[in-house]
Amino acid sequence: MTVVAVVGSQWGDEGKGKVVDLLTDAADLVVRFQGGNNAGHTLVVGGESYALHLVPSGILHPGKRALVGNGVVVDPDVLIGEIDDLAARGVEVTPGNFTVSASAHVIMPYHRMLDGARERPPAGDCAGGRVVIGTTGRGIGPCYEDKASRQGLRMGDLLLPERFSSRAGAALLEKNALFRTLYALPEVGLPELEALRERWAARLAPFIGDARAVLWEALSAGRNVLFEGAQGSQLDIDHGTYPYVTSSTTLSGGACGGAGAPPRSLGKVLGLVKAYTTRVGEGPFPTEVAGPFGERLREAGREYGTTTGRPRRCGHLDAVAVRTAVALSGITSLAVTKLDVLRGLGPLKIAESYRLDGELVRHMPPDIRDLARCEPVYRDCDGFGEDISGARRLSDLPGAARRYLDCLEELCGAPLGLVSVGPERGETVLLEKFF
Ligand code: IMP
Repeated sequence: MTVVAVVGSQWGDEGKGKVVDLLTDAADLVVRFQGGNNAGHTLVVGGESYALHLVPSGILHPGKRALVGNGVVVDPDVLIGEIDDLAARGVEVTPGNFTVSASAHVIMPYHRMLDGARERPPAGDCAGGRVVIGTTGRGIGPCYEDKASRQGLRMGDLLLPERFSSRAGAALLEKNALFRTLYALPEVGLPELEALRERWAARLAPFIGDARAVLWEALSAGRNVLFEGAQGSQLDIDHGTYPYVTSSTTLSGGACGGAGAPPRSLGKVLGLVKAYTTRVGEGPFPTEVAGPFGERLREAGREYGTTTGRPRRCGHLDAVAVRTAVALSGITSLAVTKLDVLRGLGPLKIAESYRLDGELVRHMPPDIRDLARCEPVYRDCDGFGEDISGARRLSDLPGAARRYLDCLEELCGAPLGLVSVGPERGETVLLEKFF
């Protein structure tokens, strides 16, 4: 049995979809443990492209099981849409291959409304203290807020009409007061939510169950389990660039709370590292390059959000950020993605440390006021102009690309496990057997 957790070590969008898909071949169970449909993976399987936001990519492989753990927040309409799309393309989603935890929280329409309202700063002076995060607008934060304040509705509640109505009614008292007084939004009626519950339950009931029990059974039967992280280490609610973060634990440890995995079961942690850095939304980004280099990276890497289509901010690889992720998630090896995108971009740089008040710092400062004052200290690397998509071993790569990887490995502080040299599955240099 092997248990592998795949986590992002930057600000998300590291290209987890392809790597998770590669590893899924040898996994028996693929588990999501945090986030929701703020995530988005594009996968190419059998020549077909699939964009998945909630259902773990294991579903695309016959004979595998996919779980959505209790730590995920679920928008039932998105889930139903994904199940329908998969079915229309011949991928059967059945209670035998897919379970969503009864304890996963439900993203309600009022969560999306609140997310949107908070991201629109009011005109005038009162904009002062409000932080605009640049969220995906999917209702993720407000749903996790209700979970923490014990006002949430869980997937299991969709099957209990009376409990659903009383809890939704109580939540509406507060939400409608906010909509009326602060956000000038229309109030939401309970009958509207009750009708949704009925529709959601009718479609999703067969899939709602005890996902933990499925996981524990797989672990005790010695099966291979893959935890599919979403977003990235610097977006973690506790250790990221707060408040410009998502609302969940994006680190490997999230698999414990968010799926019920015993901490000691996590064998390997694969940290995804894009060969450069991107970020969507607001917040500090020390190695960002606003000029032509950043624009060329965005075009070459097609750096536009899978979920929102927003252009991503681009910059040099930041080994300080990745080193911090290695420490936080206990990353045992690195999966470098999109190395091919750097082709022809000229000389490259990797931030090896930051200078803060005259001192060199090697990890991300925990407060963004300090981070905003950090000046990256760069290591210069040669660029490469060759097409590397045919490389299958490190020795197939041009010298400059190899030296860039050596530098990355040394500065980030974990060994390379694989290097992706193109979007296709086969365009990979595999250096480690994960399962
Ligand atoms: P939220 O998760 O929608 O609340 O957004 C909070 C922050 O996390 C914003 O800066 C988003 O752009 C960012 N974010 C959320 N999900 C992803 C993702 O899958 N990739 C990259 N950034 C993300």
